[in-house]
Amino acid sequence: MSFKTQRFAKHNFDQTYNRSDPRSYFSTLRPLDYRIHRTAIPVFARCANLLARQRDLRRVTMVDLCAGYGVNAALLRHKVSLDELYDLYDETTTPSATDQSPFIESDKRFFASRRLKSAPVDKVIGIDVAAHAVGYAENVGLLDYGASENLERGAPSGALRERLANATLITVTGGMGYIGPQTFEHILANVRARHAPWVVAFPLRTTPLEPFRRLFARFGLRTEVWEHETFAQRRFADETELCNAAKHLREMGLPSPKLDEYHQTQLICARPALEADAIPLREIMAKPRRSVDGPLREIAASL
Ligand SMILES: C[S@@+](CC[C@H](N)C(=O)[O-])C[C@H]1O[C@@H](n2cnc3c(N)ncnc32)[C@H](O)[C@@H]1O
Repeated sequence: MSFKTQRFAKHNFDQTYNRSDPRSYFSTLRPLDYRIHRTAIPVFARCANLLARQRDLRRVTMVDLCAGYGVNAALLRHKVSLDELYDLYDETTTPSATDQSPFIESDKRFFASRRLKSAPVDKVIGIDVAAHAVGYAENVGLLDYGASENLERGAPSGALRERLANATLITVTGGMGYIGPQTFEHILANVRARHAPWVVAFPLRTTPLEPFRRLFARFGLRTEVWEHETFAQRRFADETELCNAAKHLREMGLPSPKLDEYHQTQLICARPALEADAIPLREIMAKPRRSVDGPLREIAASL
């Protein structure tokens, strides 16, 4: 059974994943309050900051898997909040097209005017099967390099392999149901930096973690799960999705959620053991870490 067929039946948003700009995606997900970035971005920022300090790095290169339209890169490297992105990409005022976006130039100007002088990550490589989505993110300057490759199906292209060589931080939001250990293996096998990268991801709490744990261990990474909290991803799309989730949660001995509750994710963090010992997860997760509105390197440094 492939990793994909094991994942539990979530609502299908595929028709929004590969448009020429993010308007349909954001307008579909806004009513469901898709919000995992509110938790993830300060955690990614903090990891990037701690990694840079620990390894005395001048540059942090992030590889965002299932990067879609570059939302994580937008929030990490610009003075912009998730709510502002929902407003910018509101389809009721600015309908999205299927193959050619009329908004590339205006979005490019918007992000250029919001670019942080000192962001927690210096380079962002985005990987996603959706060619239009990563193309958009590259065109408006959110990604330094966008690869529309499916690493579940095959090895990275030569061009992507070159870019992966210096990866320091691998991130995922909203994508762990689509990719399995195979994708991470292709990434980690191509990193040539002196130290292995940190992997920081937010899978749904129903995602089986053992296959990932085993894979990361093969590359010298110890996987930790933050056991103290779960984090809201989005509301359930409908009764069918709720029933599917409830079934899986019951099998895990967890209570059934209600329709107005949220899919819950957990944080996993895979790092070289020495670094995991030197920087305990509780240091990364120390509160407060909610704001995604300020210059993140400074926020992360002050936490
Ligand atoms: C829910 S979206 C998450 C997008 C973004 N990370 C975010 O949080 O807003 C899931 C993304 O996974 C991508 N995806 C699905 N299968 C994939 C695969 N095998 N490899 C890479 N990306 C994939 C989809 O195209 C889509 O952009």
